[in-house]
Amino acid sequence: LSLVLPNFGKYLSSNNPLLNCTTSYMRTGQSSARPLCLSHCGLSSRNISTTTDYPEFKDLEEIKTHDNLYKFSINKPEVFWSRLARSRLTWSKDFTHVMKGDFLQGKMEWFTGGTLNASVNCIDRHLKTHGDKVALIWERDEPGTHSVYTYRKLSEMVGKIGNLLLKSGVKPGDRVAIYLPKSPTAVATMLACARIGAIHSVVFAGFSADALAGRINDAQAETVVTANQAVRGGKLIELKKMVDSAVTRCPCVKRVLVYNRTEAKVPMGKLDIDMTKATLGESTDCPVVQRASEDTLFMLYTSGSTGSPKGITHSTAGYLLYSNVTFKHVFDYRDGEKFGCVADIGWITGHSYVLYGPLSNGGTTLLFESTPVYPNAGRYWEMVERLKLDHIYLAPTSLRLLLKSGDEFVKKYDRSSLRKLGCVGEPLNHEAWEWYYNVVGERRCDIIDTWWQTETGGVCISPRPSELGAEIIPGMPMRAMPGIKLGLYDSEGKEVKGETGEGALCICQPWPGMARTIYNDHDRFLKTYLKPVPGVYYTGDGAHRHKGGYYQITGRMDDVLNVSGHRLGTAEIEDALDDHPDVAESAVVGFPHDIKGEGIYAYVVLKDGRTLTKKELEKQLKALIKSKIGGLALPEIILFTPSLPRTRSGKIMRRILRKVASNKFDELGDTTTLSEPEVVDFIVKKHKELT
Ligand code: WT7
Repeated sequence: LSLVLPNFGKYLSSNNPLLNCTTSYMRTGQSSARPLCLSHCGLSSRNISTTTDYPEFKDLEEIKTHDNLYKFSINKPEVFWSRLARSRLTWSKDFTHVMKGDFLQGKMEWFTGGTLNASVNCIDRHLKTHGDKVALIWERDEPGTHSVYTYRKLSEMVGKIGNLLLKSGVKPGDRVAIYLPKSPTAVATMLACARIGAIHSVVFAGFSADALAGRINDAQAETVVTANQAVRGGKLIELKKMVDSAVTRCPCVKRVLVYNRTEAKVPMGKLDIDMTKATLGESTDCPVVQRASEDTLFMLYTSGSTGSPKGITHSTAGYLLYSNVTFKHVFDYRDGEKFGCVADIGWITGHSYVLYGPLSNGGTTLLFESTPVYPNAGRYWEMVERLKLDHIYLAPTSLRLLLKSGDEFVKKYDRSSLRKLGCVGEPLNHEAWEWYYNVVGERRCDIIDTWWQTETGGVCISPRPSELGAEIIPGMPMRAMPGIKLGLYDSEGKEVKGETGEGALCICQPWPGMARTIYNDHDRFLKTYLKPVPGVYYTGDGAHRHKGGYYQITGRMDDVLNVSGHRLGTAEIEDALDDHPDVAESAVVGFPHDIKGEGIYAYVVLKDGRTLTKKELEKQLKALIKSKIGGLALPEIILFTPSLPRTRSGKIMRRILRKVASNKFDELGDTTTLSEPEVVDFIVKKHKELT
């Protein structure tokens, strides 16, 4: 058994000071550490109702509580998921098998034999009964402006764009790269792809032209959909220019559809199609291509610890079912409510909880185009008041930023419409939890800390509805969702048994929403997720299991950074730095950052004989990262050093680099075994000068 549990020690307590406070107050049981019993709120205090919550299991005597339901879902996954699949999705052909394969085989299939279409599930089936219901609320960047789109309107947009794609030659299985601002057009384009059986690959509009080109080429996408410009925080972003630059490096691209987000005229080349003009004459009726359950619905690139970003692929039926079911039960979403997930559609959160989850449930979903601080730190709460949102789902990093601006920005606005407060992306530290609960939610709303990943398709751990009197504990997502069997593993790959413990977080049984592969690289998929601990899915995160079996996430165990909830591979940033002609080598690590959660710290070794000053170099290196990846990968600190600390066998000691970056000089350990121990003293000295 050769285990590949990288940097196993990284997750251990000392890694994340934001978390430490949570952990220690929980352990010492100080007064502020009380578990909350929110008897007036839905999540933590409702006995299961198989009439309203899970009508699929009404006939089963054994399901009387959420706990019963959870056990049932784990013991009888085929009954559990097949009943949900048949009742919550609309099929053009019923499936013959619920689930095939397992983690050891490395191939999982759900609902084979069945066919369906995701756009029919998200739109058509709602039209008969509630075509006039609002599907999308578009909160534009310009403060105070919003517009609403009914299901009927969305259906017409999807039809027109679908027909345009068909006419342009897009065929089932083709990849369509979408590089658009968060907008109804973006949602309609994703659903139009789904309708005609094409695979959408959304690239976050904050990534650079280079990053976009890499993703287009990896997916061999012939079609790109973009906008003339994007608007964010009052600033214009020249999206079309980025695409023009990307496409010069993408021989596979045959056409670029351009949506006009602003009035600005942009140069149009021979590949370019003006979407507004071209869709004018198209019919709103677009034929549906039925897809097999396991056909790919979409792919989405995400960073790993090594190599270039990987194209995570998701299935049509399994993914759709999982986002549908988790949306309803994680947030206790009720018909008629307005759900406000502020994430961009360029991330999985936007796919599952802006688009597929809410729309497949016939819900009303928000498209937030702006930033939490534009025009000021009251943006979210002014919007909550104006739109009367029932739910808000955001990232801890924005809470940490907003709480620093003071309570006035919150209290000024009426938040009484809010019922649930969700968050995702990184650990929700104690201070942010308390502020969210006390100030934003006025102690009325459940805080729903959700843990999941691009690869899991939907939420896997969250407080979720549980028995009357059950508690919510600040600082952890707590409970596994139905159908999700969690386990912790030690550095030797042995399961950590018992009620409490810590280790590598794994999911021990297949679930419909999990990614099926990495586009064009199934071996990498196996190596990353299924081989580290044979027989289970390896998440890459460390976790504590507390009393009651509640899970607390401690952070990544690998060389993946989580900067403001954005996932970045250290290797990607190093590759960008190493591209500079004056750079000999580099090592990038994360360090604790008050607002971003993790900041980026780059150690750079220069080649001999360079002529540029360090200041100029720093500027160029930052520009290089911005153009290779995007502004979100810019390092906070660049430290130039004559060499990097290495073991005698030549391995870079990242552990030491992380300790220095985190000011933990007394935790450097024994450095005498390094090949050049004196380099550590140099780095420590330089670091103190810089910070
Ligand atoms: C990584 C996945 C899934 C949507 C957003 C991010 C971290 C996610 C939590 C949480 C602690 C969290 C993990 C995970 N993460 N949610 N509630 N508490 N950490 O998706 O970009 O695929 O990143 O985000 O480290 O592995 P992603």
